[in-house]
Amino acid sequence: MLQVRQKPISWKQRWVKHVTVACFFMFMIVLYCLSTLQIYVSPPELPVPLSCAAPPGQHSTHSPTNGSQQNNKICVPKMDVMFMKTHKTASSTFLNILFRFGEKHNLKFAFPNGRNDFFYPSYFQHTYVQDFKSGMCFNILCNHMRFNAAEVAKVLPRDTLYITILRDPAELFESSFHYFGHLIPLTWSIPGKDKMAEFLRDPNLYFSPNGFSSFYLKNLLFFDFGQDNTLDPSDPQVNKSIGLIAERFHLVMLMEHFEESLILLKDILCWEMVDILFFKLNSRQQSTMSKLTPQLRAKALQWNSIDWKLYKHFNVTFWEKVETYGRERMTKDVAELRRRNAEMEKICIKGGHPVMAKDIHEEEMQPWQPIGERSIMGYNLNKNIDKAYQVLCRKMLLPEIQYLTDLGVNLWVTKLWEHVRNIIN
Ligand SMILES: *[C@@H]1O[C@H](CO)[C@@H](O)[C@H](O)[C@H]1NC(C)=O
Ligand SMILES: *[C@@H]1O[C@H](CO)[C@@H](O)[C@H](O)[C@H]1NC(C)=O
Ligand SMILES: *[C@@H]1O[C@H](CO)[C@@H](O)[C@H](O)[C@H]1NC(C)=O
Repeated sequence: MLQVRQKPISWKQRWVKHVTVACFFMFMIVLYCLSTLQIYVSPPELPVPLSCAAPPGQHSTHSPTNGSQQNNKICVPKMDVMFMKTHKTASSTFLNILFRFGEKHNLKFAFPNGRNDFFYPSYFQHTYVQDFKSGMCFNILCNHMRFNAAEVAKVLPRDTLYITILRDPAELFESSFHYFGHLIPLTWSIPGKDKMAEFLRDPNLYFSPNGFSSFYLKNLLFFDFGQDNTLDPSDPQVNKSIGLIAERFHLVMLMEHFEESLILLKDILCWEMVDILFFKLNSRQQSTMSKLTPQLRAKALQWNSIDWKLYKHFNVTFWEKVETYGRERMTKDVAELRRRNAEMEKICIKGGHPVMAKDIHEEEMQPWQPIGERSIMGYNLNKNIDKAYQVLCRKMLLPEIQYLTDLGVNLWVTKLWEHVRNIIN
């Protein structure tokens, strides 16, 4: 038999074959990318739904109650909530309330992806929401963001109630200076031990609007609401912006009157007292709190005069709301809230008060710390908590990052950053 001697495939031919196959795959990948890109770039823009609360009849663990509204109207709890989380305003404590309410009613949160904020300080974009698809139903949006009304409206149903919280701007400035100071290069060159006092002595000496993260040092509230924090306070835009915020937000709470704020919230959202029980999370160790002298306070208010205007405006509307609610009724309800919080404290918290980070036994209960120190306090759970309260106690005390993880948020950037901090600290 005559054997046909196969010509060995030359190196060159083999090479050509491999390149052809590789090119084909690359071509397919490019095609695939283009097709997905197409979808990504021009999604069909469906209108947001009117409401994302569970339709009547659908299973809900909540039994409608009379609530607190007048006229014997049946009060149905509101499920669609936008909480504009401002910085250094007890907003972590409030977030814990929202998380628990969301879990209780199986609500869908619009969470960020990879980290615990929406790319702050960039303006919020609807595409930052994890798994966002046009026309989807989200109930709650509550992570840190720089507010952008038009983009927020693309995520939430039209019946959403907008809530936020403000704090006395002098106290907020002090807190922000303490908490973020290490992250703001502008503060690094400030001489002396009391950097904040030195800064306030002549802010313009140290402040530059273009400095990295400089917004933490001036009108931070106004900045969080998406406004220009470096405007001249007499600029008509300031007045206009405050008007827009007042129009957009249904309730503006005040940190200094947190309990009254929660009672007003419970009223407009038609929630129950159990929904607004809370423990103060993320509180600072007393020794690291600098008491503002009246002189420093005056300077801080002058330096943050846009925030001061904002605060005074919403202080007026806040007390008008309390007046409408009824002063006596408010006093009574705040007392009830305090009584029930104290009751929970006894049940849940070992020793009944927060402890320093080094004294927290469970790693899971460790709160997030500012860079360079461990001044944020946390809690130890009681041992032998009654079964009926075990889950609630843990949830009420769980620090924000851990709670977000439990709720299924992907936090790889935040966690990486936490490791870096732990090494630095
Ligand atoms: C609701 O109102 C009815 C009649 O007004 C009253 O009997 C009932 O106790 C109220 N329920 C709650 C939970 O307040
Ligand atoms: C803006 O200024 C006008 C005129 O001074 C005043 O009537 C109005 O109340 C101001 N609005 C706000 C939100 O402060
Ligand atoms: C807030 O309003 C209350 C009630 O009108 C008033 O007593 C208080 O001085 C105001 N606070 C500020 C900071 O304007």
